[in-house]
Parts: sequence; structure tokens; C-alpha cells
Amino acid sequence: MSTAPVLTPDHGALMDSVYRKQRHVYDATRKFYLFGRDQLIDGLALPHGGNVLEIGCGTGRNLARIAKRWPGTTLYGLDISAEMLKSASERTSGMARLAQGDATQFDPEALFGAATFDRVVISFALSMIPDWEQALLHAASLLAPGGSLHVVDFGDMKRMPAIIRAPLRRWLTWFHVAPRNDLVRLALAQAARRGLGCRSRIGLGGYYQMVILGRVR
Ligand SMILES: C[S@@+](CC[C@H](N)C(=O)[O-])C[C@H]1O[C@@H](n2cnc3c(N)ncnc32)[C@H](O)[C@@H]1O
Repeated sequence: MSTAPVLTPDHGALMDSVYRKQRHVYDATRKFYLFGRDQLIDGLALPHGGNVLEIGCGTGRNLARIAKRWPGTTLYGLDISAEMLKSASERTSGMARLAQGDATQFDPEALFGAATFDRVVISFALSMIPDWEQALLHAASLLAPGGSLHVVDFGDMKRMPAIIRAPLRRWLTWFHVAPRNDLVRLALAQAARRGLGCRSRIGLGGYYQMVILGRVR
């Protein structure tokens, strides 16, 4: 049975409160526990001159790395937190077009002047978005022909020792993070609906999960 998402009245304000101070130490600290992000970036296989949208772009860390790894790419970043966007703006300094918006219901044409994207990236953001299912569906609807959606996030941690799993999951709740155990199931359903392929990978005993929707080998 699927349950209705718990919607926070002002999710943007909540994210601002989480990140107002955290954003200053975010990149230095998250490299120790947000695994799979560079693997996702390496796997983007962007065509020269292609465009990428990162939904929930945070400090802009991934966008800056994409610019280095895939030169010639047009970059867009969306986040609900004005605080995080301050960091993203400093980090990407004119390399990316940034906008504030809600992953579940933004209009890319109005915000970025682009309706579709060659690659859409969602990295450790679905676990913080109350209506993450709608965010995933919206992201999949923004793919250009031949485009792909790349997601990395916390996994179900099922194959990790219980002594680590339980405190880890508790600790994540302090940051309003909830692993999305149904991510692969929903991605497979979306892929079937849209005539796309879907590939998934579980890392470190379920600590993180990666999903690619699109033309996958
Ligand atoms: C853990 S951070 C991940 C940042 C970056 N993607 C990374 O990999 O480092 C999650 C980000 O998602 C953003 N976020 C949360 N809910 C959102 C929503 N509904 N719409 C857009 N962004 C959202 C937060 O503000 C935060 O910047």
C-alpha cells in the first residue's frame, strides 16, 4: 500500500534552516559519506554541446565537476533552498544557470528557457523531498529524445550490519533524510511507461543506490 507523502507547509524554509550554516562545511564534510556522485558524473557520457539539469543542486559541487569532466556542456541547477543557491552561485560562478524552485512542480521553460535536457541528475535530493515520487516523474518528463535521468541516493541499507544501519538511519532523520526504498520499483515503472531502459546498482551493502533511466546498455 502506498501512503500519501507528508508535505511540509514550507519545505523551502525547512531546507534553508538545515543548510543556512551547514552549507559552509557541506562540501568538505559530505565527501566522506555521499558516495557514488563522481561515478554518476563519469557515467553521464554527454554529447559535446549537450545540456544538463541538476535538480536539488545544493552547493553546485556536482555542476562544477560536470563542467570539468564534460567541457562544452550547458549547465542548469535547480534548488528549493535560497541558502544553498548562494553557495551554488559562488561555486559555479557564471558556469551554470541557477534557479529556485520545487522539484515536484517547476516549469523549466520559464526558469531556464529550456524545455528538455540531455541529462537530468538528482543526487541525494530525492531522500529529502517529501513527494519524491512526483519529483521523479517530473524529472523523467523533462528528457530530450535520447536523454537520460541519473539518480544517486541513500539505499535501504539492508545488507549492512544492523549495528551500523540503525544508528545511521536515525542520524539521517536529523537532517530530514529518508532513504527511498521504492526508488528502483518506481524507476522501472516509469521506464516501461515511457519506453525507456532502466539500469540500477546497489553500492556498499545498500548504503547507496544508483538508477539510470533512458537509453541504457
Ligand atoms: C543532500 S543535498 C544534495 C545536494 C547535491 N545534489 C549533492 O549531491 O551534493 C539535497 C538538496 O536538495 C534540495 N531540495 C530538497 N527538497 C527540494 C525540493 N522539493 N525541490 C528542490 N530542491 C530540493 C535541498 O535544498 C538540498 O540542496
